[in-house]
Amino acid sequence: MAAVSACSSDTDEPDRAAEVEARLQTVIQKYDVRAVDPTTLGAPSIDDPLSQLGKKLFFSKALSGDQDTACASCHHPSLGGGDDLSLPIGVDAVDPDLLGPGRRHQSSAEHWDGGPTVPRNSPTVFNFILYEKTVFHDGRIEVVADGIRTPNSSFGTADPHAGESLAAAQARFPVTSAEEMRGFHFAANEGDDARLLLGARLRGEDGELDQVAVDNWAAEFAAVYGAETQPVVSYQRVAAAIAAYENSQLFIDNPWFRYLNGDRHALSLSAKRGAILFNTPAADGGAGCTSCHSGPAMTDESFHVLAMPQIGRGKGDDENLRGDHGRYRESHLPEDKYAFRTPSLLNVSETGPYSHAGAYADLESVVRHHLDPLNALENYDIRQLDGEGIQSESLMYTAEESILQLETLRAEDKSKLPQVQLDDGQVADLIAFLQALTDPCVQDRDCVSKWIPGPEDTDPDQLRLVAKDRDGELL
Ligand code: HEC
Ligand code: HEC
Repeated sequence: MAAVSACSSDTDEPDRAAEVEARLQTVIQKYDVRAVDPTTLGAPSIDDPLSQLGKKLFFSKALSGDQDTACASCHHPSLGGGDDLSLPIGVDAVDPDLLGPGRRHQSSAEHWDGGPTVPRNSPTVFNFILYEKTVFHDGRIEVVADGIRTPNSSFGTADPHAGESLAAAQARFPVTSAEEMRGFHFAANEGDDARLLLGARLRGEDGELDQVAVDNWAAEFAAVYGAETQPVVSYQRVAAAIAAYENSQLFIDNPWFRYLNGDRHALSLSAKRGAILFNTPAADGGAGCTSCHSGPAMTDESFHVLAMPQIGRGKGDDENLRGDHGRYRESHLPEDKYAFRTPSLLNVSETGPYSHAGAYADLESVVRHHLDPLNALENYDIRQLDGEGIQSESLMYTAEESILQLETLRAEDKSKLPQVQLDDGQVADLIAFLQALTDPCVQDRDCVSKWIPGPEDTDPDQLRLVAKDRDGELL
């Protein structure tokens, strides 16, 4: 550790600053650290007609069975592309338009057990286009040899209906989940496909939307796709439009990338020291973060056991039924039990709470968990979270199981989580670096407003989510 910790105490002496700068340049050369190159991505513009159609669909509650939830209910651009909650509440909210802390579930609703109804944290959809291989915390949508695998095809096998991109494939699933969007009555019979029924709804075939709404959607889709092909409105097209909207959400103009692209003044001294730690392998005296948060998007898109606290409903794994086995649920490989996908860290200061179950409220606690998972679990305090009734019965059980799993993997040399010790100054430096991964646009309501339907946009079905926070402020 000596090489790195030598510079952790704070000083702004010019020669010290020059030394840190020189060491960071060496690290960048040596480990070939790069910024995301937007020219290779082919991201659509938010101004494209398809993205604009996607924006309206993303905000329409018509895509939920009971017309109370939109994609934006859990992925709002004003909330960093997420929902600002540990665990989401989708359908049956007391006030469907209230997002973030204060969003509550109706106590009278069926299937409610007192806590959040969705078992995993809602990830940001910002920069989703940077994921090239795996989707979701467990990768149950992923690129396979001959296409894209989804929950509708068996492990390792392409789903012929997945669509053109990971985003399009993903957009076919939230509407099938009872807790997220479908509700408990719509498409509730075996064999029902919520997507076919929603396509039919938008075409006016189930009588749920009035004729004006049906005509409006027909006109909106025809303007993009032409009126020739029938049906003009289908869920396949809904998914493609939402995918274009999501893939236009590229927010990568952050200080770190500016620095990598040549702006030597973009980073504070502390962030530079954090960048050295982050990008230097543990074997070379660094914090070893890039053994998993690798590449420009800072994710290997692979799965690792970190034993982060398991709170909430879980996925029904383990005998107490509130566990979540993560990647193991898909791969059934013993080493994947409790493994979750490495998330991208771009804009991470704006995307909390953190981890697959949203167990950590702030960056410091989630970073410290990496450094000493056992100690973090032993001292874990759920009161750091703002959420009512978050289930935590399985916390101790899963903590023991997942720590055991991590220790076993470490003993077999199958864990990539290095055992490093950092002092408080170094942790502060790492956090300063993580904060330099935020594009200022995502902190600015005016800047993200292009991705939020406004008065200038048509509202085809009058079911647009106009979201507010618990103080009644417009999001
Ligand atoms: C009730 C909240 C909720 C709603 C509504 C919702 N999502 Fe999500 N979304 C989630 C959660 C939770 C996950 C993670 C699930 C998992 O990993 O098992 C997720 C994951 C995603 C991901 C994958 C992100 C990643 O990093 O892998 C995308 C993309 C996404 N949602 C888009 C959508 C779209 C499009 C819609 C509307 C059709 C939608 N979501 C509706 C909660 C929600
Ligand atoms: C062994 C692989 C691995 C290493 C090494 C690693 N991480 Fe992680 N990191 C992960 C995984 C996996 C998660 C998500 C865990 C979960 O969801 O339960 C994560 C989550 C995070 C999060 C929370 C992000 C979010 O959106 O929830 C932050 C911040 C983070 N890591 C920072 C770091 C830093 C800083 C380092 C270096 C000190 C580091 N990580 C080293 C795999 C790793």
